[in-house]
Amino acid sequence: MLGRYTTGPAEREISRLRRNTPGSRVAYPRAMPDHIDLRSDTVTRPTPEMRRAMAEAEVGDDVFGDDPTVNALQERAAELTGKQAGLFVASGTMGNLVAHMAHVPRGGEIIAAAESHLILDEAGGHAVVSGATAWPVPAGSDGSMDLDDIRAAIRDPGDPHQPITSLVMLENTHSMSMGQPLSAAYTSAVAAVAHEHGIALHVDGARFFNAVVALGTPAHELLADADSATFCLSKGLACPVGSVVVGSKDFIWRARRARKLVGGGMRQVGVLAAAGLVALRDGPAGMIERLAEDHVNARRLAEGLAGLPGITGLDPARVVTNYVLFSVRPRPGQAPLDARTAFLAEWRARGVDPIEYSHGQVRALTHYGIEASHVEQALVAAGQALEAAGLAPIRA
Ligand SMILES: Cc1ncc(COP(=O)(O)O)c(C=O)c1O
Repeated sequence: MLGRYTTGPAEREISRLRRNTPGSRVAYPRAMPDHIDLRSDTVTRPTPEMRRAMAEAEVGDDVFGDDPTVNALQERAAELTGKQAGLFVASGTMGNLVAHMAHVPRGGEIIAAAESHLILDEAGGHAVVSGATAWPVPAGSDGSMDLDDIRAAIRDPGDPHQPITSLVMLENTHSMSMGQPLSAAYTSAVAAVAHEHGIALHVDGARFFNAVVALGTPAHELLADADSATFCLSKGLACPVGSVVVGSKDFIWRARRARKLVGGGMRQVGVLAAAGLVALRDGPAGMIERLAEDHVNARRLAEGLAGLPGITGLDPARVVTNYVLFSVRPRPGQAPLDARTAFLAEWRARGVDPIEYSHGQVRALTHYGIEASHVEQALVAAGQALEAAGLAPIRA
């Protein structure tokens, strides 16, 4: 079996804990299961440090606003992003939902990238709960929507036929473009277009800190002109649960009411927020800086994959965060999806677990728990899988 996780940072920390705690029953589970799980960065397990912080968290009733650990997390998130306030929510989807509930009136409209999480993967929450329509604008291969396309999508508020454009959304990093980070200059340019029309800008930053690290731009600069943002703790930052919404005090007050409405008011939730506080620490004590390792591993994975006969549609130079998307080249007469199915079955049989993605692609994400050695093992397995699936000539 390939890829047993015996040497990762979490395992080393667990061994240290066991050594230094005589007779203790400390037995944290492994950072990852016994295979190379590249399906998503959501599969990460909390670090030993997070588990300790969670066990020891001071808590209170957060619906009354008196959970000190949640309050500290919200303040830390606001400080990092340069916003007035933060709100801890259960998920990225809930973060985006309460953000549009706070920004958009019923009958309002949201401009968002056509292939964005909001439009494809949030169960139509903007329509079902907020009563808003969405106007999808195509995004380019760099993840950005053209400013003129955004301008053209803004409705005429004087025309009673039209919904009222009330929010522009950016996804940073942008998943469909293979995790491209959107720069501070671009974000500010979009904000300027929105603000000219009195419209707010919200950033869906499920992987916002991957953008921060890839661009080398501090979080507060990247969001300088955005009105609000959601970022996830439960993806590359390796927390078990949660996201934070940030913005002005007024906006966060409306988002807090919206969170209550959707049943997201939680009580002694400092036990979850404690992991987030660990993740958002500065330097190597936190989980932000570490994302650079995921980016290096993703680039190496992409370079190796792109060099294999049978892999197509992958330019490794475009891999700048933790996202790798690629296709497999079918045999003559073979349907592309059949080729993908055959390849995935063989790769999985060798202990590597990627996931099917839009446009017939395969997605592999790097994250905490995936180390350089796992990438090399995954590449060897990919070469073997292509041969076994009949998609590459068998090497002597
Ligand atoms: C771009 C983007 N936004 C939002 C979300 C939603 O996050 P969650 O799964 O925590 O609801 C995701 C999840 O993968 C995402 O990729």
